Amino acid sequence: MAVPYKIGFMGMGNMAQTIVKGLVESKTLSPSQIFASNRTPGKLVKAVDLWGIKSLPNNEELVEACEIVILAMKPQDFAVAIDPIASLFYEKQIVISLAAGITTAALQKKLPQCRIARVIPNTPSTINRGVIGYLVDEIDLGLEIVVEDLFKPLGFVLPTEDEDQLEGLLISCSSGTGFVFELMTYFQDWVEERGFDPITARKMVVETFAGASLLASQQRETSLEDLQSKVTSKKGVTAAGLESMRELEVERLLRYSFEKAALRNQELAK
Ligand SMILES: NC(=O)c1ccc[n+]([C@@H]2O[C@H](COP(=O)([O-])OP(=O)(O)OC[C@H]3O[C@@H](n4cnc5c(N)ncnc54)[C@H](OP(=O)(O)O)[C@@H]3O)[C@@H](O)[C@H]2O)c1
Repeated sequence: MAVPYKIGFMGMGNMAQTIVKGLVESKTLSPSQIFASNRTPGKLVKAVDLWGIKSLPNNEELVEACEIVILAMKPQDFAVAIDPIASLFYEKQIVISLAAGITTAALQKKLPQCRIARVIPNTPSTINRGVIGYLVDEIDLGLEIVVEDLFKPLGFVLPTEDEDQLEGLLISCSSGTGFVFELMTYFQDWVEERGFDPITARKMVVETFAGASLLASQQRETSLEDLQSKVTSKKGVTAAGLESMRELEVERLLRYSFEKAALRNQELAK
């Protein structure tokens, strides 16, 4: 058993369920160590049935029962959930927030007595191939170890140095998953226009993205540019396509979209 604590999830939505599944299936925690509360009972009942975790009737009891509280509700539900019970959190209690737009400073203001970490997972965490970034407000090695132990069953866990880096990870890996699906859609549409049926076109695209990713993952000593040059002969077919992508400044367009997403994240943080 890697983590000897009682963990409480405030909110049992998609991301909390992904984390619980990872923790239970990897045996990082036993279900008897996992507690949860949720605004309405539906998802709690499902989680209790699926993993044998314990449900609690309200957030107050969750805070009292658990050494670690994971805040897993949407950012817009934060204030309603936390403000009335902020004083119940005890001195040095560990609080892990999953909320995308709520900064460490804002969390500290609400819960100054707690040890706070922010964690940003992405949806491939559901299949244990996530990229999970975290930020701990001040040097706290114990807290970093707890976060790493809790989230490593879900994928690649990495610390970030500050809010700016965490935002970089949020845009590139969490929103990034959505951006990759957008690109995959463009590929699929084009393939379908060439006469393939949608199921075959989807499979062709998925396997191309998965194959390229796995190749890059397995040949980790080779840079992405070198991998690309292996499929690009001079004046050949791939070269013509790449030349056009560069002329059309696809990179600039993507960077613009990344920056737009970052601006939105900053707006939400206010
Ligand atoms: N999903 C992702 O890929 C992803 C990635 C990175 C970060 N995050 C972050 O993870 C957090 C959760 O996202 P999600 O996708 O899991 O959202 P979700 O599926 O909507 O789950 C949120 C859960 O919080 C519950 N809730 C709301 N108010 C509550 C309260 N006052 N007390 C207790 N529970 C309450 C909701 O209950 P009801 O069932 O009653 O609605 C719901 O089950 C968000 O802050 C999000 O920014 C998610």
